Amino acid sequence: MNEAIRPGSGTPPQAQEAPELSVIVPTFNERDNVTVLYRRLEATLANVAWEVVFVDDNSPDGTWDVVRALAQRDNRVRCVRRIGRRGLSGACIEGILASSAPYVAVIDADLQHDETQLPKMLLLASDQADLVVGSRYIEGYKSEGFNKQRAGASALATEVAKKVLRVEIADPMSGFFMVRRDRFEELAPKLSVHGFKILLDLVASANGGLRAVEIPYTFGQRQHGESKLDSMVALDFLGLVLAKFTNDAVSLRFILFAMVGGIGLVVHLTTLFIALQLFKAPFAEAQAAGAVVAMTSNFVLNNFLTYRDQRLKGFALLRGLIAFYIVCSVGLLANVGVAFSVYDQEPIWWLAGMAGALMGVVWNYAMSGLFVWRK
Ligand code: GDD
Ligand code: MN
Repeated sequence: MNEAIRPGSGTPPQAQEAPELSVIVPTFNERDNVTVLYRRLEATLANVAWEVVFVDDNSPDGTWDVVRALAQRDNRVRCVRRIGRRGLSGACIEGILASSAPYVAVIDADLQHDETQLPKMLLLASDQADLVVGSRYIEGYKSEGFNKQRAGASALATEVAKKVLRVEIADPMSGFFMVRRDRFEELAPKLSVHGFKILLDLVASANGGLRAVEIPYTFGQRQHGESKLDSMVALDFLGLVLAKFTNDAVSLRFILFAMVGGIGLVVHLTTLFIALQLFKAPFAEAQAAGAVVAMTSNFVLNNFLTYRDQRLKGFALLRGLIAFYIVCSVGLLANVGVAFSVYDQEPIWWLAGMAGALMGVVWNYAMSGLFVWRK
């Protein structure tokens, strides 16, 4: 198979058995965890032909460097180092597509998932299922790794996903699963690279077309480092649900942008209220203050959520903020212009208002992509 002669070694490398299982591990700042995980995979998969692909988003702690060193010693290990991109789902998708075994598993690097379940998952996947999910919500489930608040949020999100998207598995938020490659590749074009919830995306995109089996496992404590999921996950999740609900007619990024716009409206009205009531400001000034505060908070939220994968920092942040003010000001003119002309033809206030708002958000979104978070 591999006929290259290794320089210096004198002996041709052993032809390796084709892998049956590819394990994909997304990493961001997991330097102290990857070697432990690799050893555990080696132990638990002793009877399986496997490979592991770490997908690292150029971690500042140099996780990729540790993975490279492992790959030098064991050619079942590979490192995909992505530069200029961030995102859990995108990393998983890229890792799966960069691997080759007929079965693929996704597992976190931080040892919160129970890798000893993999052989059992492989048996199930090769025998009776397209998808095997490590589930925290079925009998036998224990979660040590969640505080009360996070457990509550996770349970609520799960309920919403089940009701709105008619997802039938118990734990669509799980980040620990195995899937048949052929089924995954069929669905891959429908998946969003922006979110955190690749399993939910996969199951929702399949529309009931995946035979799924769930096995319980204990969600453990993180060993080293810290979680990367912040409060933005909640908004991100809502966006994914909406995107799937519209059958992907609207992109997740646009939905997030529009949600941020909705929050901006609330911020605007709150500021207006405070300026008028508390500071007794004249209406025009109060309205202007509301607009500036709302634009600023929209910019910050979009930078954290909608464009998290290309977040602006330092001087680019300031430049971006100014560009965003300009974009939004023109957007406001477009908004009012459209609303007026609709009202002119059809004097229905809410229709005109909605048409204007829609024009504004579409304009702001398109121009922000061109001038603020440009790529
Ligand atoms: N490449 C890459 N890029 N990896 C990332 C990124 C990213 O932007 N963000 C997080 N990761 C990696 C982490 O290094 C870790 O291996 C894994 O993804 C999960 O991230 P954590 O930060 O540990 O998330 P968590 O423990 O809070 O979330 C867990 O629970 C969720 C269910 O509520 C994970 O299991 C998720 O997969 C799961 O969806
Ligand atoms: Mn974790």
